[in-house]
Amino acid sequence: MRRSPFFGAMMVREGLADGSVAGSLSTTGDVMRAGIQCIGMPEGISVVSSFFVMVFPEKLYSFSDCAVVPDPTAEQLADIAITTAQNHKKLTGEEPCVAMLSFSTKGSAAHPLVEKVVKATEIAHKKNPLLLLDGELQLDAAIIPKIGASKAPGSAVAGKANVLIFPDLNAGNIGYKLAQRLGGAEAVGPVVQGLRRPFFDLSRGCSVDDIVNTTAINVMIGAV
Ligand SMILES: CC(C)(COP(=O)(O)OP(=O)(O)OC[C@H]1O[C@@H](n2cnc3c(N)ncnc32)[C@H](O)[C@@H]1OP(=O)(O)O)[C@@H](O)C(=O)NCCC(=O)NCCS
Repeated sequence: MRRSPFFGAMMVREGLADGSVAGSLSTTGDVMRAGIQCIGMPEGISVVSSFFVMVFPEKLYSFSDCAVVPDPTAEQLADIAITTAQNHKKLTGEEPCVAMLSFSTKGSAAHPLVEKVVKATEIAHKKNPLLLLDGELQLDAAIIPKIGASKAPGSAVAGKANVLIFPDLNAGNIGYKLAQRLGGAEAVGPVVQGLRRPFFDLSRGCSVDDIVNTTAINVMIGAV
């Protein structure tokens, strides 16, 4: 309990603080363990995950999960998609349009890795029928209208997605860093989601601006 992420998490749990921002000196794993073990998840949420808001000059995207869950099950992937969609709306004010990403679009490839994304899409539809969500989609089909129309005709999401759900942490972590380092996007996050109270993580070596931005998001998002 003397380690600061755990001490902070218990302050949040006990109502002595409204939220916590940790991680300038601790690894993501240690910060997440403090949140999962001390604060826990609300009813109906099966997994703690995270998202990044990726800021491009012409458009904002939410990417998930890029920092927490190494190999989500189909059920967890569905929950990650639903939670990220809700937070995208809270944070940006935009209606979420969610793409469940894969290396296949609508059956173009057959593989257990693709089946997981198809199953997650079905589960997310069942849990939240009103959410604009589709899969499985390749990245180009998800965000480029012309390719979306040719690879996934009739999809309400293809070509228009603003919430991108990656199938595992390899894809998500590499994907957000590609967009940041080669694509020139500003990456805001990771924003932790799925805990009962606001409890956020920073990258070690973060700047003062990162701490200020993360604290502001903490206040805006509140408990998920
Ligand atoms: C999040 C993380 C720390 C959890 O690791 P862990 O504590 O070793 O987790 P374990 O698999 O041993 O599980 C311990 C318990 O926590 C639960 N748990 C683990 N991850 C969870 C999650 N994301 N959400 C909810 N519960 C979780 C497990 O279900 C288990 O519960 P139980 O004791 O009731 O069975 C780990 O997945 C991790 O390090 N993720 C990657 C972080 C990272 O390095 N990111 C780098 C990019 S920034």
